[in-house]
Amino acid sequence: MNKVWLLVFVLFNSEFFPFGSSLNVTTRPDVVNIGAIFSFNSTVGKVARVAIEAALEDVNSEPAVLNGTKLKLTMQDTNYSGFLGIVEALKLVQNEIVAIIGPQFSVTAHLVSHIANELHVPLVSYAATDPALSSLQYPFFVRTTQSDLFQMAAIADIIEYYEWRNVIAVFVDDDHGRNGISVLGDKLEESRAKISYKAPMRPGATRNEITNVLVKVDLMDSRIFVLHTYADWGLEVLDVAETLGMLGSGYVWIVTDWLSTVLDTYSPVSSNVIANVQGVVTLRMHTSDSKQKTNLVTGWSNLTSRKASNGPFGLSTYGLYAYDTVWLLAHAIDKFFNQGGNISFSKDSRLTQLGLGGGKLPFDVLSIFNGGELLLKSISEVNMIGVTGPIKFTSDGYLIHPAYQVINVVGNGYRRIGYWSNYSGLSIVPPEILYRKPPNRSRSTQQLYDVIWPGQTTQKPRGWVFPNNGRELRIGVPNRVVYREFVSLVQGPDTFGGYCIDVFTAALNFLPYAVPYKLIPFGDGHNNPKVSDLVSLVAAGVYDAAVGDLAITTNRTRMVDFTQPYIESGLVVVAPVRKRNSNEWAFLRPFTPMMWCVTGILFLVVGVVVWILEHRINDDFRGPPKRQIVTILW
Ligand SMILES: *[C@@H]1O[C@H](CO)[C@@H](O)[C@H](O)[C@H]1NC(C)=O
Ligand SMILES: *[C@@H]1O[C@H](CO)[C@@H](O)[C@H](O)[C@H]1NC(C)=O
Ligand SMILES: *[C@@H]1O[C@H](CO)[C@@H](O)[C@H](O)[C@H]1NC(C)=O
Ligand SMILES: *[C@@H]1O[C@H](CO)[C@@H](O)[C@H](O)[C@H]1NC(C)=O
Ligand SMILES: *[C@@H]1O[C@H](CO)[C@@H](O)[C@H](O)[C@H]1NC(C)=O
Ligand SMILES: *[C@@H]1O[C@H](CO)[C@@H](O)[C@H](O)[C@H]1NC(C)=O
Ligand SMILES: *[C@@H]1O[C@H](CO)[C@@H](O)[C@H](O)[C@H]1NC(C)=O
Ligand SMILES: *[C@@H]1O[C@H](CO)[C@@H](O)[C@H](O)[C@H]1NC(C)=O
Ligand SMILES: *[C@@H]1O[C@H](CO)[C@@H](O)[C@H](O)[C@H]1NC(C)=O
Repeated sequence: MNKVWLLVFVLFNSEFFPFGSSLNVTTRPDVVNIGAIFSFNSTVGKVARVAIEAALEDVNSEPAVLNGTKLKLTMQDTNYSGFLGIVEALKLVQNEIVAIIGPQFSVTAHLVSHIANELHVPLVSYAATDPALSSLQYPFFVRTTQSDLFQMAAIADIIEYYEWRNVIAVFVDDDHGRNGISVLGDKLEESRAKISYKAPMRPGATRNEITNVLVKVDLMDSRIFVLHTYADWGLEVLDVAETLGMLGSGYVWIVTDWLSTVLDTYSPVSSNVIANVQGVVTLRMHTSDSKQKTNLVTGWSNLTSRKASNGPFGLSTYGLYAYDTVWLLAHAIDKFFNQGGNISFSKDSRLTQLGLGGGKLPFDVLSIFNGGELLLKSISEVNMIGVTGPIKFTSDGYLIHPAYQVINVVGNGYRRIGYWSNYSGLSIVPPEILYRKPPNRSRSTQQLYDVIWPGQTTQKPRGWVFPNNGRELRIGVPNRVVYREFVSLVQGPDTFGGYCIDVFTAALNFLPYAVPYKLIPFGDGHNNPKVSDLVSLVAAGVYDAAVGDLAITTNRTRMVDFTQPYIESGLVVVAPVRKRNSNEWAFLRPFTPMMWCVTGILFLVVGVVVWILEHRINDDFRGPPKRQIVTILW
């Protein structure tokens, strides 16, 4: 009897839920657990915390997103520590979470990625910008913000735009700083500039350590500094630089987006902080304006006063990305369920063995998320509009449309002097307008508004100085005996005068900066020195240059570069000149005496031949021999 009822029930059931679709309509759980690890008290973290909580409220109050399922978030404070990051990530995954928001710091991201790879829990980070995290080594790392790859490309483009060649990189010596600067080096190389010196600093360096690093780089010849560090102590570096007078005129500081994050978070920034960073150029991730963004920005002060105990603060771009990250996860989890995913975990055999092998750490509580791969795929396929604009991933895992704003700190605030987009490089119009046109990265389209550089000047700094420990240019000058109008040694041992020296000093005066030099006589002063030897010495590096009446010959141009000739002879034919006295026999000169003899003999021979042929028939050749000879000659 029971069997019949069961059969009826099955029939009834399959009538209402046709077999094909019932497979995919998985029962959604009421709650999905997600975790978040970041530093609550950091500049980025405290903004992100409010943004994440707000986003969670919004997602959970909108049943349409997850069809009634709620997200439950567990947050852990890593307090700037990579070690705590690992421990807390492990603590989170034992709560059967499906994804981790964060970590905030790239260093932690490198470490926690190993846990994510093993347990198949996607890491969705809104703040870890280290370009190396995009590597194939970390398949479960998803970056929902811009990679520093693009930020460094933007900095390289700015440096190329101002035609600087040598850059000094000051950075925090951890994964975040090192990998970012290494990408900067690659990008600079594409425009034939380079990092002439790398100045690493210990993470969390003291004021003394920073001073030592900066004093050292101040002795270098480059005046272009790229500062890549964290929002939490970047200002300390600039403060030390200011104390050392390294924010005066002639210096250029291009700092990565940590500064704009600080300015956004703590605005209005106190006047003595802003006084320290006058003229600094920084970047800020560009997000397009939208209704959602305006709503979040206007509601922000309410949010911070409700949620944050540590006082009101502004909304930075990382806050926007953190907000979108929660929404992105919600959309991805929805998609995951639609594709038949279910939330189940299984034991990691490797860990179970470890747990059995003794020791007190309960490794066997960690389990693998079976749907990890599917959720990862769902995340990569998300296509939504968030507060940061359209959100979508390219095939290599970057967010679409990487773009930055270029910002110049002046007065009490800052000024936007242009945009950089991966699409078209530097421009003064927002990237959204450029996306409608074909990409154009030609030199003439690259544009920025004027920058007010450190020292309150709008004149573009030259970017380098003669290093303090530098030597003067050694200029070889031929110590000639003849043609002393061109160069000659005059009063004093090393002083020269003459036309060539005048041209040289006049040319130097045209340079916008001073060039220290020393004229060194070449030759003993008794004989004319050989110019070829002087040229060889320049080529050999004994002299840096030579000044004087040096003829430009093919052989010499193979060894050294000549300036434009400033005394020119033009094309000439050279002939020897000999003085000859003119007399009445001058008409004989065209021919040599031999020629005259031959001509005379020929003359006679012709006469004789005519006589032989004609004297039998011609009456003129008759008569006495004397007359015949006269006729022949005539
Ligand atoms: C958190 O930050 C505030 C100010 O930003 C500071 O006063 C406080 O000491 C910080 N707390 C910790 C635990 O670092
Ligand atoms: C959403 O949930 C309702 C019942 O809670 C269910 O009828 C509907 O099919 C679900 N929609 C999707 C797309 O899963
Ligand atoms: C964070 O670490 C600092 C020392 O590095 C410590 O003073 C502080 O109490 C820690 N904060 C929390 C919330 O653990
Ligand atoms: C702040 O937000 C809460 C809840 O959204 C609302 O009730 C309150 O009126 C808001 N306050 C202000 C000043 O907007
Ligand atoms: C669930 O639906 C997706 C398409 O939405 C399909 O690709 C997948 O194979 C289905 N899964 C099952 C188990 O039928
Ligand atoms: C979850 O899905 C897997 C296949 O992806 C399946 O083997 C397993 O039985 C499902 N679990 C539940 C509870 O539906
Ligand atoms: C950035 O630009 C390069 C070349 O212009 C292109 O190959 C790449 O796909 C772009 N990246 C993104 C994320 O748009
Ligand atoms: C790029 O812009 C420049 C100047 O506006 C123009 O001359 C050039 O033809 C443009 N190139 C392309 C590929 O559109
Ligand atoms: C040119 O230089 C070569 C060696 O570099 C030398 O052998 C040759 O004699 C030189 N010619 C003249 C005309 O100085």
